[in-house]
Formats: sequence, C-alpha cells, structure tokens
Amino acid sequence: MKILVTGGTGYIGSHACVELLNAGYEIVAIDNFSNSKPEVVQKIKEITKKEFIFYEGDVCDKDILNKIFKENKIDAVIHFAGFKAVGESVQKPLKYYRNNLDSTLSLLEVMTEFNCKKIVFSSSATVYGQPKSLPIKEDFALSTTNPYGSTKLMIEDILRDLYISDNTWSIALLRYFNPIGAHESGLIGENPNDIPNNLMPYIVKVAIGQLEVLSVFGNDYDTPDGTGVRDYIHVVDLAKGHVKAIEKVLKDSGVDAYNLGTGKGYSVLELVNTFMEVNDVKVKYQIVDRRPGDIAACYADAMKAKLVLNWQAEKDIKQMCKDAYNFVKKQK
Ligand code: WQD
Repeated sequence: MKILVTGGTGYIGSHACVELLNAGYEIVAIDNFSNSKPEVVQKIKEITKKEFIFYEGDVCDKDILNKIFKENKIDAVIHFAGFKAVGESVQKPLKYYRNNLDSTLSLLEVMTEFNCKKIVFSSSATVYGQPKSLPIKEDFALSTTNPYGSTKLMIEDILRDLYISDNTWSIALLRYFNPIGAHESGLIGENPNDIPNNLMPYIVKVAIGQLEVLSVFGNDYDTPDGTGVRDYIHVVDLAKGHVKAIEKVLKDSGVDAYNLGTGKGYSVLELVNTFMEVNDVKVKYQIVDRRPGDIAACYADAMKAKLVLNWQAEKDIKQMCKDAYNFVKKQK
C-alpha cells in the first residue's frame, strides 16, 4: 500500500512518516519547506532505516500533484500541508484561506481524477470553539474564532459534502488537541525558527537560554491553579493515530471525525513544573494578562478513537517533557 503524505517534513507529518514506514507502508511525501527543513527527509530515513519517495513542491500546484499520481499508484492520502499559526491567521486571513483551501481543493480534484478516494485530514480541536462542557465529544457544536480554525472547519465541510456527492469516498477527520514532544531519537521534533506561539516550544527555548522568560497568559481562569488547561498529547501517539486512521479508510467508506487527545487536561503551571522536574532545568516565568481568544480549559473525550480506530494515547506528560527537551538539546 502506498500512502501520499502532504506536509511530510513538518512537525506532525514527519512523525507520521516514521510510523507509517515502521508499520510497513510505502510512502510518498511532498513538502515546500515553508515551515520545515529539507534535512528532515534524511532524518526520517535514518530513524526508520527505510527509503521513501520525496517531492519538493507546493500542494496548491496541480502540475506536481498530477506528476506524483502519474508516477505512483497512491492508495490513500494523509493531508497535513497547511499554515497553522493562529495569531498569524488573524493578521493575514487571505494568506490562510488561499493556501489552506487552495491546496486542499487542488489535492481533492487530482485525487478524483486518479480515482483515489481515501483521505485522512489533519483537523484540529480548534473547530470546537468554546465548548459547552468537558470533556469534548465529536458531536459537540462546531464553531471557530480565528481564520486558521475556520479553514479547518471549512475543509471538514468540503470533505463532508464530497462524501455526500460520492459515497465511495472514505474520509477520516482527525481533531488534534495539543501535540507536544518529539521522537525518542531526538532527530525530529518541533523547533520553530521564530518566536514560538505555542507553550511547549516556548518553554524549551527558555530552558536552553534562547529566550529569557516565559509569559504565562493569565492565572485568573476558572481552573485549579488559574492557568489555562489543555489536553497535551505526545506527537508520536498522534502519529500512531494516523496509521490507525489509514487502516480504517483503506477498509471501508464514509466520513467520520475523531478526537486525538489523551482525555486528560494539564494547566500551564503543571506543564512548566513537570518540565523543570523531569529535565532538572529552571524555566523562568512571569504571570501576565490573558491572551485574547484563549479559552480556560479544553480536553478530549477520546473514547470514539479507542473504540473505532483501536487507538489510544500511551505516553504520559513526563515523557512528553523529556522528549521535547531531548530534541532541542540535540539541535544545539
Ligand atoms: C496552550 C496554553 C495558553 C504560550 C493552539 C491552536 C490549536 C493547535 C495547538 C494547531 C494556553 C498558554 C501559551 C505562552 C502561555 N494548533 N500559553 N504562554 O492555544 O491551546 O492551541 O495550538 O492545530 O489549533 O489554537 O496552544 O500552546 O498556544 O497554548 O501561557 O507563551 O498555554 O494561554 O492556555 P492552544 P498554545
């Protein structure tokens, strides 16, 4: 079975390539390196001791997609490629709508032309907006509060409409909670070039001395210690969830959404303190005002993925903190 992975050198895409290769799939990956580095291709091969086909290119470009499908018999696609910074999407909405929607529409049109109708889509828990209660279930109301999240919800709607128009499609919508950590080898992980928006990459840069202090965005939320609570999931667990989703879409048809989370919430201060304890390192932080748009708490009901995909997260918060730090220490 040959799987096309768009965004294959990205943070989650690269970990998915490793787990797909480990599971015995042949893969073809495409990436334009807009948010990743070329050396990740070799790192994936080094970790798995396996070869795979890589194309440098933009998923918006139908010429390269046609070339990929002409040169390879693609059985299914995992679609990661897309811009993902919430804050940037608020500043530059057209960039996000053009890129994330265009790339998806181009991909789906070429898939249809080549009669490849099996896709796993990288969605996000952000499509739940402000949840009415916790834990969050897949049938909760969907709404978004930023253009990035809106592109994810729009693409889910496009895929649901595509299935209604042709029910030979097989579609899995994977709603990620908060992916953190890195492969145990320390060869691949999350290492943003600029100032990180997300919590864990910021913690790590303070720990290694690249940034001076972590700003904790508010400690007056209605949570146990007042700081924001999120469902952090190890990126390797998340990657393994994609292998299970590929098995599902290869088997039957339909369209279904799945929460990929641990079902447990941790606060900002719990994560910071766990990180300092397991890595024996100091992370200086200061409490500042809330970040506009943040919600107090968000964590998954992960039962559906367990029952339908036979998947559940296995790595705990300590392992996530250890692996995140191990990766960045190896980049120095
Ligand atoms: C986590 C917690 C912050 C940074 C976002 C996207 C979501 C997904 C994951 C793509 C919150 C607090 C953060 C900092 C802080 N991305 N924080 N200081 O906002 O839950 O989710 O990333 O799919 O779509 O919305 O993640 O890591 O930014 O924040 O105190 O410097 O850490 O307030 O409580 P978030 P995050």
